[in-house]
Amino acid sequence: MENTKKILNKAMEEKYSIPQFNINNLEWAKFILEVCEEQQSPVILGVSEGAAKYMGGYGVVVAIVKSLIEELKINIPVCLHLDHGSSFESCKKAIDSGFPSVMIDASKYELEKNIKITKEVVDYAHKRGVTVEAEVGHIGGEEDGVVADVAYAKVEDAVELYKQTNVDLFAPALGSVHGLYDGEPKLDFIRMNKIKELTRIPLVLHGGSGIPDNLIREAINNGICKININTELQITWHNDVVKFVTKNKDVYDPRKVIKSGEISLKKAVRDKIKLLGSNNKA
Ligand code: 13P
Repeated sequence: MENTKKILNKAMEEKYSIPQFNINNLEWAKFILEVCEEQQSPVILGVSEGAAKYMGGYGVVVAIVKSLIEELKINIPVCLHLDHGSSFESCKKAIDSGFPSVMIDASKYELEKNIKITKEVVDYAHKRGVTVEAEVGHIGGEEDGVVADVAYAKVEDAVELYKQTNVDLFAPALGSVHGLYDGEPKLDFIRMNKIKELTRIPLVLHGGSGIPDNLIREAINNGICKININTELQITWHNDVVKFVTKNKDVYDPRKVIKSGEISLKKAVRDKIKLLGSNNKA
């Protein structure tokens, strides 16, 4: 496993985006890794605090991903990344368990406190070769059961946070939301470009599900190097599982139930990799 530095710097130079696919269990990690290997796409596996808890803890997630890489002979660059770490303690726990990358999301606080917490995480992480993502403004929508409104990042706040923390990658809120969109997302490409020009670090687009392809391409042209995708995979997988369960009411083997969403989940992963242009970049 590796941190995000090399893969995101290459993506920034060559203008494509690395996908962050969020994982929820062993099967999702396996399905995603198999497609990324087939497509020769570097990948970031995102794990929210809720998903880590569901799987049994950060150490369990690290062990699952490391073992899959070994047993499945995965040779592409794989980064395991804590998604929306809510505190220094949570990020420290993930880092101490072997995560090569973390996000500290202190965006619910005012700028000064966001900077203080982010800097604390960066100082701890960098000493251990771990990369850090921070959030400025507030990405809205539903995340781990919590619903919030979007608050666009201010350019000067983004620059200030970058200067004071030396963070590796940045998720400025620019109009995308977690979960489903009501209409077309209103992404602020002008602001995105300004933040890119003034910070020159890889930018992250959260809420990658449901954004039309042309807007995804425009985001990549304006400095986005990492796009997070979760809801779209969940919906695709769920649709097929519902069909399977409805048709096969007497099948109770969980392996068959979970696997019934494999083909469509893999197709969604493959399609996103091609859209983001990360295929054959391993
Ligand atoms: P979606 O669930 O909207 O794809 O967003 C994922 C995400 O941004 C995780 O941080």
